[in-house]
This record gives sequence, structure tokens and C-alpha cells, in this order.
Amino acid sequence: MKYRIEKRSPTVNEYNTLRQLAGWPVFDQALAMKGLANSLFSVCVLDADNTLAGFGRIVGDGAIYLHVSDVIVHPGHQRKGIGKMIMVELLAWADQVAGKNTNIGLMCSKGREKFYADLGFIERPSENFGAGMIMIKN
Ligand SMILES: CC(C)(COP(=O)(O)OP(=O)(O)OC[C@H]1O[C@@H](n2cnc3c(N)ncnc32)[C@H](O)[C@@H]1OP(=O)(O)O)[C@@H](O)C(=O)NCCC(=O)NCCS
Repeated sequence: MKYRIEKRSPTVNEYNTLRQLAGWPVFDQALAMKGLANSLFSVCVLDADNTLAGFGRIVGDGAIYLHVSDVIVHPGHQRKGIGKMIMVELLAWADQVAGKNTNIGLMCSKGREKFYADLGFIERPSENFGAGMIMIKN
């Protein structure tokens, strides 16, 4: 199948649909709209029917901390190179704004470590870094 890249945010509906398919929590309209609009850079991959096959984005300060978020490929389109396509676009954008010591981070879902390691990310905790930590509001 032919896929097309569009450098834009998904709609809230597209976004929540993909998150739901990934088994992740969804967000209410206002919060999702605000969050997506505040992205630094977003990539959508569309299939031949213009349906969202995958998405990913970068949030952060645009210089020192860049955070890769929401990399999701529709289950029906996985293992066809779309995830890598999204990451290549995100990292190419990051290269344009990054300088020496820019921190490109992400919170890896369980079992996806190899996907990101192949792209150059290192796992935490390591000899020099503690574990990543998060707080999720109720
Ligand atoms: C993780 C995910 C984005 C990968 O997308 P994908 O389009 O299926 O991956 P690709 O086809 O581009 O695969 C790229 C490479 O990663 C590898 N890979 C893909 N999924 C993998 C997985 N679950 N575990 C280990 N390696 C994986 C592929 O074998 C491929 O390796 P290769 O380049 O040596 O052939 C996708 O499985 C997904 O959306 N999962 C649900 C949401 C999720 O967990 N997102 C990650 C959040 S941290």
C-alpha cells in the first residue's frame, strides 16, 4: 500500500481513535485540542484512503529539551515501516533545531525498546542515568 506523509497534527478525533486502538487513555476535546496545538512538530502518515495510519509528534522547548510523544501506528498498518518513517521525520526535524547537548527523550512503552534503540536511543536506567519517572493525574 502507498503511504503519504503530512507534516501536521491529527484532528482530535483521529488522535483519540489512534490512542484508543493502542490501548492508551483518550483525552477530552478541549485538552486534546490544546495539547496538539502546542506540539512543536507533528507528522501524520495517511493511507491511500486518506485514513490516518500513523502519527507522532515532538513537544518541548524547541532547543534544549525535545520529547518524542504519541508515536502510534494503526494496528492494521504495523510492521510496514510506518513507525520508522515517522521517527525519521521527527528526528530530521529535531536535527534542525538541536544544538550540542540537546536532550531528545521519550517514554518507551513496554516492549518497544528495540524499536527506539535501532534509531539511536539508549535505555534508562543505565550506568550514568537513573530511571525515567512520571506522574499521571487522575
Ligand atoms: C511501536 C510502533 C510505533 C512501531 O511501528 P511499526 O510501523 O509497526 O514499526 P516499523 O514497521 O516501522 O518497524 C521499524 C523497526 O522496528 C521493529 N519493530 C517494530 N515494532 C516492534 C516491536 N513491537 N518490538 C520490537 N521491534 C519492533 C521492526 O522490526 C523494524 O525493524 P527493522 O527496521 O530492522 O525491520 C507500533 O508498533 C505501535 O504503534 N505500537 C502501539 C503504540 C506504541 O507502543 N507506540 C510506542 C510508544 S513508546
